Amino acid sequence: MKLKIAVLSGDGIGSEVTDQAIKVLKAIATEFDHHLVFNEAKVGAIAIEETGNPLPDKTLKLCRETDAVLFGAIGHPKYDSDPSAKVRPEQGLLKLRKELGLYANIRPVKAYDSLLKKSPLKKDNIKGADICIYRELTGGIYFGEKKLSEDGDTASDLCEYNRHEIERIAHLAFKAAKNRHNKVTLVDKANVLESSRLWRKVVSEIAEQYPEVALDFLFVDNAAMQMIMNPKQFDVILTENMFGDIISDEASVIGGSIGLLASASVGDKHAMFEPIHGSYPQATGKGIANPIASILSAAMLLDHFELTEEADLIRKAVDKSLKLHITTPDLNSKFDNITTSKVGDFIEDVITNPDDSNFNFKNIHLGQSTII
Ligand code: IPM
Ligand code: MG
Repeated sequence: MKLKIAVLSGDGIGSEVTDQAIKVLKAIATEFDHHLVFNEAKVGAIAIEETGNPLPDKTLKLCRETDAVLFGAIGHPKYDSDPSAKVRPEQGLLKLRKELGLYANIRPVKAYDSLLKKSPLKKDNIKGADICIYRELTGGIYFGEKKLSEDGDTASDLCEYNRHEIERIAHLAFKAAKNRHNKVTLVDKANVLESSRLWRKVVSEIAEQYPEVALDFLFVDNAAMQMIMNPKQFDVILTENMFGDIISDEASVIGGSIGLLASASVGDKHAMFEPIHGSYPQATGKGIANPIASILSAAMLLDHFELTEEADLIRKAVDKSLKLHITTPDLNSKFDNITTSKVGDFIEDVITNPDDSNFNFKNIHLGQSTII
């Protein structure tokens, strides 16, 4: 298959982790005889520095012309601590989602057996947890009208949804549930918010077209608690933009590190793949950022183009790296010098030599070759 991929590494650790995803995609391309073309463009704080715009026209144009976007991370402390900044890196990502019509953000979360100890949650509660969050991505409070009074003392953000916006992602969530465990949980705040009541009404109507899928409802505050107490009850979670943002970071605790969580953002024409973690400024340039979320996002990219065997091979290689503790310090207890790129090298090696089970740990430790 021939695919054009736009690479938007963005800020902070973005380029370090995205480089590993590209390394892995190139190994897949070689093994399976695909032709992948990568083109880089700027987004976020780095784009503001250069052009004054967090999403330069050139970047948007490239994204529109490619088959998929591989995204790194966005954000810079300089802007986080300056609430008066008019131009912010995050605006680049939000505009990109909106312009490309990426209305569904899919965030799979699971407990890896080899990492149960890494989660602060009780092992028995999380073992076997396997959730897929469908977060609406181009509506709600993120995109509603924003107001700040002249005296600067009153502000508001409008949370607005229409039937169409709810229906299109609901269909995706129900279809996903059919291929999983036939359950959709709608997370909302329908006891308080009018917009949530519209979600309940529309999603209940859509559910009738999927009789084999059970639909239940949870208020977001309760869902936040259930996510920690009993995450195994969830299969597909369907929710609006901001609730999905919050609940997916919370859910990452199940996996043991936010550095593991990948995502796909899809629309009718375009698709983008990105780790859910942020730009991790403290780690920039240190080689300690976990590249697995980015590598698993690359696997989701391949899934999107129905290259399932290829995507599964990446996931298997990731599992192997986790089992053998070839991981960055956020997860590692056995070795302390495994860098971001070492993890990428290892996963690349496993893809190139999938049957090789002889690992020279001494060499891995020294940062030399991974396979004898
Ligand atoms: C995410 C991030 C973004 C969001 C930020 C960086 C704008 O937290 O993708 O979850 O809030 O959507
Ligand atoms: Mg977030």
